[in-house]
Amino acid sequence: MRVLVSGGAGYIGSHTVLSLLASGHDVVVVDDFSNAKPSVIGRLEALSGKHVPVHAIDLTDAEKTERLFDHERFDAVVHFAGFKAVGESVAKPLAYYRNNLDSTLSLLEAMRRHDVQRLVFSSSATVYGEHAPVPYSEDYEHLSSSSPYGQTKVMIERIMSDVAAATEGLRVALLRYFNPVGAHPSGQIGEDPQGIPNNLMPFIAQVAVGRRERLTVFGDDYDTADGTCERDYLHVEDLAAGHVAALEHLDSMVTPVRAFNLGTGTGTSVLAMLHAFERAVGRELPYEVGPRRAGDLPAFWADPTRANTELGWRAEKSIDDMCADTWRWQQANPQGFPDA
Ligand code: UD1
Repeated sequence: MRVLVSGGAGYIGSHTVLSLLASGHDVVVVDDFSNAKPSVIGRLEALSGKHVPVHAIDLTDAEKTERLFDHERFDAVVHFAGFKAVGESVAKPLAYYRNNLDSTLSLLEAMRRHDVQRLVFSSSATVYGEHAPVPYSEDYEHLSSSSPYGQTKVMIERIMSDVAAATEGLRVALLRYFNPVGAHPSGQIGEDPQGIPNNLMPFIAQVAVGRRERLTVFGDDYDTADGTCERDYLHVEDLAAGHVAALEHLDSMVTPVRAFNLGTGTGTSVLAMLHAFERAVGRELPYEVGPRRAGDLPAFWADPTRANTELGWRAEKSIDDMCADTWRWQQANPQGFPDA
């Protein structure tokens, strides 16, 4: 298939581009490079041995989006593009709603006009909100999220469901990610957060490489085995493979829209993750215990049964793989991707 990947220069998008190319698909990337470096593309081309066409377009510009679809033919869209920092979304809700919703609407309109009938969307486990029973199941219906970022995911899932119901032939897979970590085993692409990392794994990696002094563990008085929060970390390469599996499953889906959890089904604590990273690095890493972070849930993980059975997909890589690959990427690229 010829696949448009929006946000294809980002962390999960770039790994998915490689998986799509390795599976024999053609890829066109659209990215506004507001949170990704153009140098990612050269790395993707070197790793895949293929040319990766790129359009530097902000999808909130409906006219430019329309023109992109006028000039290129796509069989499918994998939609990653969007703002994704939870804390920032609380401070700038309008920017998040405007960006994430407008870009999706432009894309959906262009797809409708050009009769593109396959869509895979980058959603998040955050749509399960605060009250869903653990493990999270796709059958849970009361979707909500405590942050504007998460709320855009809930809304976009809804918009896509409504559009699919009104569009003969459109098939949509909503992929609810748990906690993606790790990097490509080559060490050439990985997560490159701008400024101080919000998420656990990039923060630990930057402590290990000497960019940050120590990790602050956000609370050790939760009702969990070691008192720290538990999450379902999955390797970004497994996650990328999940997108290919979902894309190739769309034509045989029995309903127009289907949500799939992409997770391992197992929770790992903050301290267990830190200790796994210490094993990868071969030394202890400094940390302190601080107060809880507002909005954090004690523990959640996926019920991945639906993705296992319907997509034939399973997360295979271990926590040690995730840490070893993150460490390889971080060591080779201590300051992330180069500017040019
Ligand atoms: C966060 C978002 C989630 C988003 C996901 C994307 C919040 C509340 N949730 O998930 O909506 O989809 O990122 O990747 O931000 N931790 C520390 N010290 C740190 C950083 C994190 O102890 O410096 C702990 C956190 O308390 C949490 C765990 O590590 O228990 C994982 O945190 P993080 O990587 O930010 O992911 P989530 O909060 O699960």
